[in-house]
Amino acid sequence: MWRDRRLCDLLGVTHPIIQAPMAGSDTAALAAAVANAGGLGSIGCAMMSPERFRAVYAEARAVTNRALNMNFFAHRAPGDDEQKAARARALLAPFFMEFDLGEVPEVAETNFPFGEAVFEAVLEARPRVVSFHFGLPGARFVAALKQAGTVILSTATTPAEARDLEARGVDAIIAQGWEAGGHHGYYLDPKGSQTGTMALVPQIVDAVGVPVIAAGGIADGRGIAAALALGAAGVQIGTAFLTTAEAGISAPHRAALLASDGSDTRPTRAFSGRPARGVVNRYMAAMAAHEDDLPDFPLMNTVTGPLRKASAGAGSPDFIALWSGQAVGLNREATAAELVETLVDETRAAMARLAG
Ligand SMILES: Cc1cc2nc3c(=O)[nH]c(=O)nc-3n(C[C@H](O)[C@H](O)[C@H](O)COP(=O)(O)O)c2cc1C
Repeated sequence: MWRDRRLCDLLGVTHPIIQAPMAGSDTAALAAAVANAGGLGSIGCAMMSPERFRAVYAEARAVTNRALNMNFFAHRAPGDDEQKAARARALLAPFFMEFDLGEVPEVAETNFPFGEAVFEAVLEARPRVVSFHFGLPGARFVAALKQAGTVILSTATTPAEARDLEARGVDAIIAQGWEAGGHHGYYLDPKGSQTGTMALVPQIVDAVGVPVIAAGGIADGRGIAAALALGAAGVQIGTAFLTTAEAGISAPHRAALLASDGSDTRPTRAFSGRPARGVVNRYMAAMAAHEDDLPDFPLMNTVTGPLRKASAGAGSPDFIALWSGQAVGLNREATAAELVETLVDETRAAMARLAG
């Protein structure tokens, strides 16, 4: 049914549908189920040690021999700012007291940009696809991965980023619109772009020669058909997979997604130091006035980590990052395989409707 076969051929999949990598919320079981259903299953590895990466990759490989995408962050190392760090710790201290968590930890780096240690593990594992968020790692890493036959993807939020990624050798570009759940992947303009998927995708399609994958606010077959009409070769979908049986999110996060119609989502820097879209909760509301005054990504993760854990443990949504895109009102509860099958059927129906 897919007339544009570029992405299916490049990724080795039946359907040009990518389950987005979602570090901390996806699972090996989710990625394997999507792969076995004919899509591209992804695993967000940004917070993993090389040992954990190897274990999770092996866990997925035990259940599928289809293509998998392993995803990493290529962010710039954060700048030190003692004043911002002290302010963030003071702001969070009352919340730590509420949960009896003791002292707010020192601000420090928890996860590092893609580098040598994990690179060796990736070269050994040789996944079919490796994708990056927040740009690309050094040219040496990209060249070696390509040499090993790995397909490289990265995220662009502007045509300028798309041109930059193409010039640096990526095989396909994820055009991520402002609607998207989780972290916005911008990396050239320090303030980021707020262009929505509908406006972004055709401009990126015109800007580059490699296949473009639309992401942000796509949750059913109507959205997929629309993305294809805009010239995308496929889609990357995150939020819609969060309420599948195999997703690894907490009960309060799942409940918040099922209760939301997307109008209560907005980007916040308050969890990690970089803007990421989620359902507004007590913590996001309390931190709204301090958004521009927080330590850089990923430093904020150190101070919010214990709070998030305690909040999830107490069954409360108040201090969890409730990552969600704007199309969350379309979310369904299903298995990942059922969702992929439904998305394919709905796309076929939407395209038939358009053909009249
Ligand atoms: C919970 C969550 C976590 C995410 N984590 C990552 C990640 O680790 N790496 C990445 O490249 N993108 C990540 N994203 C962004 C997705 O790749 C994708 O751009 C986004 O989900 C698309 O928008 P949608 O959620 O409206 O489908 C995440 C998104 C969500 C919802």
